[in-house]
Amino acid sequence: MSVHNENPRRVTTQRLLEMKKRGEKISMLTAYDYTMGTIVDNAGVDVILVGDSASNVMCGNTTTLPITLDQMIFLAKSVVRGVKRALVVVDMPFGSYQGNSKEAIMSAIRIMKETHGDCLKLEGGEEILESVKRILSAGIPVMGHLGLMPQSINKYGSYTVRAQEEVEAEKLIRDAHLLEDAGCFAIVLEKVPAKLATQIASELTIPVIGIGAGGGVDGQVLVLHDMIGLNQDFSPRFLRRYADVQSIMNDAIGNYVEDVKSGDFPNEKEQY
Ligand code: KIV
Repeated sequence: MSVHNENPRRVTTQRLLEMKKRGEKISMLTAYDYTMGTIVDNAGVDVILVGDSASNVMCGNTTTLPITLDQMIFLAKSVVRGVKRALVVVDMPFGSYQGNSKEAIMSAIRIMKETHGDCLKLEGGEEILESVKRILSAGIPVMGHLGLMPQSINKYGSYTVRAQEEVEAEKLIRDAHLLEDAGCFAIVLEKVPAKLATQIASELTIPVIGIGAGGGVDGQVLVLHDMIGLNQDFSPRFLRRYADVQSIMNDAIGNYVEDVKSGDFPNEKEQY
């Protein structure tokens, strides 16, 4: 169902908080360009994430690490132009905020000034708290990201479920509270046990958006290219595939090639 509206009420960080209070689940999806941003927004998604997963699905890298601040800004600008209703969150890429809080605020201000996105997402808890606070103090809303943090893949060595052991689970709970206390408006929890995610969502007053974190949280996020089957290289247990867009495109492009080769395209009506 498309939720197209002439004068849609914009989703704000405050509205997400109200949604959590009344138990309304929050839908979030990635988009990396103008056309996809427009489609995802028109379909009624609450939050659009210009994720650094663009490094994988748009650029063909094996991790999110190589994507640069300039590249993220280019993508986010294009998405923002297509969005009328959803809240647009832009990922701060690896290397743009880990150095120190001054580097973080400079990168954050560049993203906000150049893209006109609504807010930013950073991976990490206690280790990046000073940077989170500095960005928040500039009036920029921040979404946290805990659990599996793909920018730290070289530390973990694999994309397996995080916080299965007590020590890591306790740190995760502590970090979630630290981010809430600092003033983050929401937190993404990636690939953690559902029971732990449910506990964190019930302890926090801000929304917890899960990816591979079960149904007991306040909302869900998926990578668009994975959930519409445009990218078929990634099939984790948590992914529900809603369409097979890759097959649709394969058929359409195959038919086009055939028609060009046979001379069927263009016909008389398709010329001047
Ligand atoms: O970059 C991204 O797409 C993300 C989601 C997986 C939450 O951070």
